[in-house]
Amino acid sequence: MGRIVVVGSYNRDTVLRVPRFPQPGETLAAAGMARFHGGKGSNQAVAAARAGATVAMVAAIGADAPGRGAIDLWAAECVEARYVIRDPALSTGEALILVDDAGENEIVIVAGANAALAPPPGDAFAGAALAVAQLETPVATTIAAFAAARAAGAVTLLNAAPAQALPDALLYATDLLVVNETEAARIVGRDGRPQDLAAALAPRFRRGAVLTAGAAGAVWGRPGAALLHVPAPAVRVVDSTGAGDAFIGAFAAGLAEHLEDSAVLRRGVVAGALACQQAGAVPSLPRLAAILAGGG
Ligand code: RIB
Ligand code: NA
Repeated sequence: MGRIVVVGSYNRDTVLRVPRFPQPGETLAAAGMARFHGGKGSNQAVAAARAGATVAMVAAIGADAPGRGAIDLWAAECVEARYVIRDPALSTGEALILVDDAGENEIVIVAGANAALAPPPGDAFAGAALAVAQLETPVATTIAAFAAARAAGAVTLLNAAPAQALPDALLYATDLLVVNETEAARIVGRDGRPQDLAAALAPRFRRGAVLTAGAAGAVWGRPGAALLHVPAPAVRVVDSTGAGDAFIGAFAAGLAEHLEDSAVLRRGVVAGALACQQAGAVPSLPRLAAILAGGG
C-alpha cells in the first residue's frame, strides 16, 4: 500500500454552538464554546491515517501554542510531520465556526501560516501513491507539489474546498477532483443534479471527478466508465464539520490500498456520514473498524 502525502492547512478551530445563525447586526448567546484541531489538510491527513493509510503532512504552522498542539496531534495520530515548517514569525491558522441546532456550520478563517506554505522538497513524494490538497493553502504551492508528485508516479487528488475560482493550471495538475455541489456548480458554470455535474466534470480529469452530496451520498464520474453512486446511510446530524474531510481521508486511504472504485467510494461515504454524528472535526473522524462496521 502506497503513502499518502497531504499538502494543506492546519487550523485551530473555535466552535460556538448557536440555536441558529445570527442576522446582520444581531447578537446571539452561544450554548457553549469548544476548541478542536481543524484545518482541511490536517483533518484529511488524520482521517486517512485513521482509515489505515500511511500519511505524511506538508503544512506551515507558527511556533505558538496552537502549532505545538498540531505537532502533538500528528504524533498521536501517526501522521509523519517531517515536512511541516514551524515559522516563529507567523501565527498558526485559526477558524471560527458557528454550528446551529441542525448541525450546519458557518466558518471564518484566519489563514496565518497556512498562507505561507511553500512546496516541500522533491523527495517528499518518493514512494507516494497519492498527493492530496485543498484550497486553504496557496494554489501555486499545490501546482508545484502536484507536478513533483506526478513526476514521482503519484496520483494527484484535489479537494476544491472551500469554493473559490480555480486557475486552469491547477485543474491541469489534478488527476482526480473531489467537490461538493456548490464547488462543482462553480467549476461547471451551472447548477445541476449531482449525477449531471459529476458526468460534466469526469472527462476533464484522468481519474474523473467525485461529487459529494451530503445525505444523498456521492457520485464518481469516471472517464469512459459508468457513473458510480453510493447513497449515504441515514444518520442523526449533530455537527457536519469535518464530514467532507472524513470522506476524503477514507476515500484516499481506499485508493492507496488499490481497492475497487465502488469500495473506495463506499468507504468515503460511510466515513462522511459517521463524522456528522459527533461534534468537532478531528474527534468525529472515524477509524477503519467503524467505517467497515458502518457498511464501508
Ligand atoms: O472542513 C472543516 C474545516 O474547515 C475545519 O476544521 C476548519 O478549520 C476549516 O478549515
Ligand atoms: Na463532525
